[in-house]
Amino acid sequence: MLNLVIESSCDETSAAVVLNGVTILSNAVASQIPVHQRYGGVVPELASRNHIRDIHKVIDEALKNAGHTLNDMDGFAATAGPGLVGSLIVGIETTRTLAMMFNKPFVGLNHLEGHLTAVLIEDKNDIPRPSFPYLGIIVSGGHTDLYHVIGIGEYELLGRTRDDAAGEAFDKVAKMLGLSYPGGIEIDALAKKGNPEAIKFPRPMWTRKNFDFSFSGLKTAVLNYTKDHPDFILEDVCASFQEAVVDILIMKSIAAAKVKRVDDIVFSGGVACNSRLRALAKIRCEKAGFNALFAPIELCTDNAAMLGPIAEHYLKKAPSYFENIPTNAQSNMHLGQSLREASGSESKHR
Ligand code: KG4
Ligand code: ZN
Repeated sequence: MLNLVIESSCDETSAAVVLNGVTILSNAVASQIPVHQRYGGVVPELASRNHIRDIHKVIDEALKNAGHTLNDMDGFAATAGPGLVGSLIVGIETTRTLAMMFNKPFVGLNHLEGHLTAVLIEDKNDIPRPSFPYLGIIVSGGHTDLYHVIGIGEYELLGRTRDDAAGEAFDKVAKMLGLSYPGGIEIDALAKKGNPEAIKFPRPMWTRKNFDFSFSGLKTAVLNYTKDHPDFILEDVCASFQEAVVDILIMKSIAAAKVKRVDDIVFSGGVACNSRLRALAKIRCEKAGFNALFAPIELCTDNAAMLGPIAEHYLKKAPSYFENIPTNAQSNMHLGQSLREASGSESKHR
């Protein structure tokens, strides 16, 4: 199938034309980072307004770059959740209208499922792709979730954060240190010049007994350290904090992979761009007998192309537009669930 896929769940407006789920013909992204940067985080009302401004631009760009027209599309898909409802509505209603005009199927997609399966997309550098079942960890601005991925649409949730997400911890610590939003990339860059062993920050939930995470205590430990050491070395604080996060993510992933007896561990979401995580995961996972796999960096942060595999999977089963069940924006959405499935129940979320 040739599909037009739209993502607008947070602060990126994106459109992609994807062939057979795994071949990206184009991936246009309009980032709102400069809009939100001066507020130190995403302002939902501004996000919705900017999606409205950019959505037609990114669709035009994606079609032009792919050398196709709307008429060529076999299906249309947009993120339905989780995310900011006002932002999601812009993507859903635009895409649904196109599907209606061309009488083609439309499906709403789960953003998290996109992150988890982006690694299945073809890559020019021929990066290794996982075989099912695999262990998948989503580390983004809103989630730190560990899944046993049995197949597309079949996920077993093994653990998740009990408070802040890993990306949220990066962003909050960056803000405390006077760095700009989004903080992960800034900490990553500064950490390269620091000593990861300089400060012994705690490793919360350092137990193999469960696969849950907690990052708010670590964030407080960084705050206390900077208060107690006003002349702290910024690079060392960044490197030591980052080391603690990366350490926990890798340790828990390996522990879960052992229990589930899988070969491959897939790291996904914005924090999977982190250079220390990418380097250390390879070494530690290999040592423990597993393959650490990452999607290319441009597919780890939010974009429409990462939704290609799930768009294809669900569109193949979708009826033509007029027989379809409407899909609405959802701020919270379980993995594997879209409204179509909630009423047709194809995917299993345990
Ligand atoms: O997946 P994503 O683009 O959006 C969500 O779905 O949340 O993830 C964004 C998060 C932000 O918290 C950002 O600080 C973090 O990913 N991030 C990083 C890096 N690049 C982005 N965290 C650590 N190191 C990075 N290089
Ligand atoms: Zn995301």
